[in-house]
Amino acid sequence: MVKRKHNQEFETIVGDILTHSEFQKLKLIEHHGNGLYEHSVAVGYHSYRVARVLGLDYVSVARGALLHDFFVESWRGKKKNSKGIQRIKDMHGFSHPKTALVNAQKYFDIDELQADMIIKHMFPLTPVPPMHLGSWIVTAVDKFVAAREMIFEKSHPIEALKGILLKA
Ligand SMILES: [Fe+2]
Ligand SMILES: [Fe+2]
Repeated sequence: MVKRKHNQEFETIVGDILTHSEFQKLKLIEHHGNGLYEHSVAVGYHSYRVARVLGLDYVSVARGALLHDFFVESWRGKKKNSKGIQRIKDMHGFSHPKTALVNAQKYFDIDELQADMIIKHMFPLTPVPPMHLGSWIVTAVDKFVAAREMIFEKSHPIEALKGILLKA
């Protein structure tokens, strides 16, 4: 029952985020066939597990990873009025880490390491590399989870996380 122990520990670490009314709005946003809420929980959970195995501050990594895509506006079909370099900067792939960081700082207490995890998670699309091992974990896990969602999961959440998702 190691998995159950980890599930419970993860819930204890991030429960206040999972149940926060603003974070719950991620449930309304579609992302690779899953909700953005399910995607965020998957990235948070797997980053937490990796950080734990590596002996890192897994509490910090779990919370930073969970908040990496904390934007509550759907980005599909949005028209951009900017041009040139600014237009590229305004594109969702480049701009959403900043939006997520602003929201994370607005609603939760996050430290410098967690800010780095959020703002750098799209590397190498955004050019500045992560500064800390925790941030490298989040950017790698995010890509793994997104690829897995696109290939296998389509419209249902990852099995191991169902309990957490149902309770939140
Ligand atoms: Fe993202
Ligand atoms: Fe993501």
